[in-house]
Amino acid sequence: MSRKSIRRFPRGLIVLHWLTLLLLVAVYATMELRGMFPRGSASREAIKTAHYFLGISVFALTWLRLGLRLAGGTPPITPRPPRWQSALAVAVALALYGLLLAMPVIGYLLLNAEGTAPSIGGLQLPRLIAENAALAESLEGWHERIADAGYWLVGLHALAAIYHHHVRHDDALLRMSLRR
Ligand code: HEM
Ligand code: HEM
Repeated sequence: MSRKSIRRFPRGLIVLHWLTLLLLVAVYATMELRGMFPRGSASREAIKTAHYFLGISVFALTWLRLGLRLAGGTPPITPRPPRWQSALAVAVALALYGLLLAMPVIGYLLLNAEGTAPSIGGLQLPRLIAENAALAESLEGWHERIADAGYWLVGLHALAAIYHHHVRHDDALLRMSLRR
């Protein structure tokens, strides 16, 4: 199959897909690595603020992405995969979009329930819900559990891409490639 004959995702969606991957790596890294900085230190506060900012950016970009996605369709995969694989791909894509939208909301509300709201670059964001310690704890549990599920989901998604490219030899991955 020549590169020219591949029908790709629209350029904007491809850029947003890979940008989201980079942002997510940073969002996870900021929290997974926060233990390296002493509690209460300025560097620990800075890394937490980076987490909030990056997470909110993911939220905004995902809405933009969904807008572009709904305006156009998805290009077909050649050769066409079996029906069950297409159904699984849709289910995983929906779960990934759900993760990208739900995590920032839960994170934001969790901070509100703890009695704070993020302040980013001097801009104090509003508190949307009142302080509530029990709710904060429950939301923190969900934020953590869904973050863990995210590793599995993204792992499955990336494995599927490798399987399509190297085992089925179809153009699923090339459709998402930045290279012309
Ligand atoms: C795609 C978006 C996001 C992802 C994938 C994500 C992921 C994570 C992860 C992996 C942790 C560490 C959980 C643990 O303790 O093991 C965490 C903690 C946390 N996240 Fe997020 N997060 C996202 C967005 C946000 C946003 C937008 C906010 C707030 C504006 C936020 C607030 C928090 C808070 C307050 C914690 C707990 C921090 C602490 O223990 O001191 N997150 N997040
Ligand atoms: C780790 C490397 C990754 C690879 C190799 C990869 C590869 C791909 C490929 C080949 C597609 C097209 C699949 C299809 O047409 O069904 C795709 C779509 C998609 N990817 Fe990824 N991806 C990766 C990471 C991520 C991450 C981190 C996220 C977000 C959490 C993500 C979210 C999505 C979504 C939501 C779609 C569906 C696009 C749509 O049809 O609207 N991907 N990815």
